[in-house]
Order: sequence, then structure tokens, then C-alpha cells
Amino acid sequence: MEKKPVMLKIDQVQHHNENYATLFFNHGIAFRPGQFIMVWLPEIDEKPYTVSFHSKERFGITIEAKGKFSQRAVALKPGDLVGVRGPFGNGFSFEAHASVCFVAGGCGMAPLAPMIESVPCSKTIIQGARSDDYLLFKDRFKTADVLYSTDDGSFGQKGFVTDALADAMAKNMFDMVYACGPEVMMKKVFDLCEANSVRCQVSLERYMRCGFGVCGACVCGKERVCVDGPVFESQRLRTLDDFNKKALLKSGKEVSLTDYFSWRSV
Ligand SMILES: Cc1cc2nc3c(=O)[nH]c(=O)nc-3n(C[C@H](O)[C@H](O)[C@H](O)COP(=O)(O)OP(=O)(O)OC[C@H]3O[C@@H](n4cnc5c(N)ncnc54)[C@H](O)[C@@H]3O)c2cc1C
Ligand code: FES
Repeated sequence: MEKKPVMLKIDQVQHHNENYATLFFNHGIAFRPGQFIMVWLPEIDEKPYTVSFHSKERFGITIEAKGKFSQRAVALKPGDLVGVRGPFGNGFSFEAHASVCFVAGGCGMAPLAPMIESVPCSKTIIQGARSDDYLLFKDRFKTADVLYSTDDGSFGQKGFVTDALADAMAKNMFDMVYACGPEVMMKKVFDLCEANSVRCQVSLERYMRCGFGVCGACVCGKERVCVDGPVFESQRLRTLDDFNKKALLKSGKEVSLTDYFSWRSV
């Protein structure tokens, strides 16, 4: 695909539960796990979504129903047309690792799932969410052991994924930790990894407009998340000033991360 939107027909809509739906397209894209596409709903808006399912001739994006755009997106039907540009961004990287750990918080499982399916090594999967209803793809990884945790204890261990990661790190030596979820969670993952001398890769979110590096909307410190990320490795996280601190709103105003994630783009 290109930097200009291509109108694609939705082939299938899979509703995982009332919070998440996946839109599938019968269209091949050259893709690396962790990359994202810009999704355009004409006369509404255009937003970034990671590719959560991928095969040679088909791909899917999984959307959490939150604000106006995402609620419209999960209500789409097979046959509806959406504009798609991309894929954009760097994606996750994999070397010849022997043992890796994946840490997903809520919808953070969307970019990690195709990575989990593609890496040929021993893997530990730690998945958490605020409650059972927000655990995404619970039955997707049958061959692997998934350690579940929920904030309210409604499924798996009660507590945060970072508690489960600390336990797993005490028992295993990982070559790499891959994480996606709320930024405060990823900062804790990074800190745990630094304390245990383990490298990590985390996928960040910032407001995106162009998706390919020209508008500056998505800056985080000196990096543009859309082209220099969205995946950042330990070495770059150490010098990324705004990691878990600041972000730009749609207007360009710099705000704390708490204000950024409570902002609504209507
Ligand atoms: C690289 C990347 C990949 C993403 N992948 C997914 C995914 O796979 N599944 C998923 O459900 N969501 C994903 N998102 C978030 C998604 O783009 C939307 O922000 C989210 O669906 C909420 O949109 P909304 O308008 O419905 O909600 P709103 O209530 O309007 O916004 C909720 C929050 O979304 C963020 N946001 C709003 N507009 C944008 C924008 N243009 N660019 C970036 N962030 C924005 C802001 O933090 C805002 O506070 C991704 C974001 C990025 C940056
Ligand atoms: S979204 Fe325009 S520079 Fe990143």
C-alpha cells in the first residue's frame, strides 16, 4: 500500500466481546509485527491502528471501542469501505534469541499477537487487563502458557502484569522483553528490565496525523513516534526525555501524559 488511502472493503467483522472487534480485509500487505496503518472513515477522521492478524492475502485490525471514531469503526459491517494507508513505522525486531517474554496490557495484545506467532523460540506470555472483559485474544495461543492477571482479580492472578513480570524474571533469563500497553505499564517494564540487565522493546502511542514523519504531531522527546517508532528499544528509551511524561495534543499543545490520555478527540 501507499501513503495515499486505498479504499478497502471489509470482508468480516469479528466481535470478540462488547469492548473489542476485529475488521478483516482480503488484501495482502507487506508487514512487520508492530507496524501500523492509518484508517480513514470518510467525513469522520483518520487514526492509526496496528495490524493484529496477518497472512499473505489477508489482514485484520483490532479496535477497542472508546470514543467517537473507534465506536463507529467497531459498528462497521462486511461490505463497508474504509480508507487504508501504510503500513508505517519500524515494527518489532527479532534476533536469534533463545527465550523472550511478551507483556501485554489490554489492547496492547493487538501488535504483540502477530509477533508472538512469528518468533521461533521459547516464549513466556504475560497478559493483563483491568478485568476479564478487557483480555484480548484469550484463546489465540493454545500452544503457549499464558500468565494472566487482572486488576480486579476477575481472571488469572489479581494484580498488575508488571508483578507477574517481576516473578517471571526471578525464575527465567530472557534475552528480550516485548511490551505494549498503557505507557505507565511500559515504563515499569523498562525499569524492571534495566534492573535485571535485560533488553526490552516497547510500542508507544502519540497523536498521529500524517503517519510518515512530516507533520511533527507525534513527537516524543527528539523522536517522531510514527517513523522512529512506534517501537523503541532500551537504548533509545534511556534517552527519550518524554517517555511516560509528556505528549502533544491534536492542537500541538504539550501536556502531561495523564492529560493526554484523558483527552477526547471529538
Ligand atoms: C501506533 C498506534 C497504534 C494503535 N493501534 C491501535 C490498535 O491496534 N487498536 C486500538 O483500539 N487502538 C489503537 N491505537 C489508538 C487509536 O489510534 C485511537 O486513538 C483509539 O482507537 C481511540 O480513538 P477514538 O477517537 O475512538 O477515541 P477518543 O476518545 O477520541 O480518543 C482516546 C485517546 O486516543 C488517542 N488518540 C486520539 N486520536 C488519535 C490519533 N489521531 N492518533 C493517535 N492517538 C489518538 C488520545 O490519547 C486520546 O486520548 C493506536 C495508536 C497508535 C498511535
Ligand atoms: S504523525 Fe506526522 S510526523 Fe508523525
